[in-house]
Amino acid sequence: MQPTARERFLRLLHAAVGDGALVKLTLSRHRSADPTLQNLLVRPVTLQAGPRLSLVWRHATRDITKNFPPAEALALLAPLIGGDFLDAHLFTAAQTAQLTCQPDGTARLRVKASAAPAAGVVLPPAPDSSSPHDQPKSHLVPTNAAWLRALGVTNDTGQPRAGMADKFRQIQKFSELLTHLATEAGFATDEALHVADMGSGKGYLTFATAALLGPRATVRGVEQRPELVALCNRIAHENNFPHLRFTAGQIANLGTEQRQAEIAPATDVVLALHACDTATDDALAYGVAAGARLLIVSPCCHQELRSQLSAPPVLAAALRHGIFQERQAEFLTDALRAQLLEWAGYRVKVFEFISTEHTAKNLMLAAIRAHPSGNPTRAAGVRELAAFYGIHTQRLATRLGFNLTQS
Ligand SMILES: C[S@@+](CC[C@H](N)C(=O)[O-])C[C@H]1O[C@@H](n2cnc3c(N)ncnc32)[C@H](O)[C@@H]1O
Repeated sequence: MQPTARERFLRLLHAAVGDGALVKLTLSRHRSADPTLQNLLVRPVTLQAGPRLSLVWRHATRDITKNFPPAEALALLAPLIGGDFLDAHLFTAAQTAQLTCQPDGTARLRVKASAAPAAGVVLPPAPDSSSPHDQPKSHLVPTNAAWLRALGVTNDTGQPRAGMADKFRQIQKFSELLTHLATEAGFATDEALHVADMGSGKGYLTFATAALLGPRATVRGVEQRPELVALCNRIAHENNFPHLRFTAGQIANLGTEQRQAEIAPATDVVLALHACDTATDDALAYGVAAGARLLIVSPCCHQELRSQLSAPPVLAAALRHGIFQERQAEFLTDALRAQLLEWAGYRVKVFEFISTEHTAKNLMLAAIRAHPSGNPTRAAGVRELAAFYGIHTQRLATRLGFNLTQS
């Protein structure tokens, strides 16, 4: 009798584990009693005790990771494939195999040769691509990077520490985005760059940027908390990042020539990820003034416009509700920022950069300089939007010298 699709898949899985060819196994379309369970990811890891398969049960709000000897893991996985999980996706360096089961027990197996990427690296999807999550890919930031360990993101085996899985994903996702956006902005791969990361916090994304761009890039983190600046400078020093430095200060004060010279003689890329409230505007204004070619911000705590927001009559009833007011203020703040950047000569993209399952602060604005002398045709649209909501001042507009109420 011919082996079934499921049996053939299990044979491929056993062979991949036996040959050391397994890259990743993903089980999805879960149908057991736990509605929070989303999928199960399996990867080979090498521990002091020897080779293991690391199983990560991904739930809506947490991950549970357990490592098993390969034979034990295979015995555990076999009944789950086509049982609790209807879809299984196996990735090896040479091929991908996709098993799709139906609740009635029928199943289909598709096997494809891999595209044989150089050194096993598959380029990440573009920011607005709709590629499925299950694409085979290596991490852009190596999971065993010493700086990830020093910052407390990963442990000695390259696994995210407890409570750091989301941060780990955010770092990887940000690195993918930065790679794509740097290409889109037209930076040559060997071009010298000056990058400023505003509100760098504990430096997770600043280190990722410095590691990704390498020594051609001078990377400066700017942070108001001196203890974090000292910590990050120590880790940069201990991990051999001579081109990465952290400076204590307020983003808003960087505009002065002396402070600007401390950060970089010129700035090509400005980052501000979750810098609070109008600190995002200060970072954007700094970038525009410096003529930066790429600005990437992920705003948070949109407080500034709440008190000015006067509802247009048609929205008055809806905006009596606090949560709608809050969302409206967020939308309006970021929409004004996007339009002001267009007026300042940038091409702007707005997108979610990481799933809301991992963080609520996931909106990203990426701006690539397209018209160095600005685009005055955008001015009227900015003013109309502000007027519609009764807004007369907004920090980025003020910092750019743009009068919201009159031309
Ligand atoms: C939520 S943390 C984000 C850290 C980092 N960008 C990240 O995404 O991992 C925001 C950081 O910005 C810093 N920050 C906020 N406003 C600032 C300002 N006006 N000047 C300098 N740093 C600021 C805070 O101290 C904090 O460390």
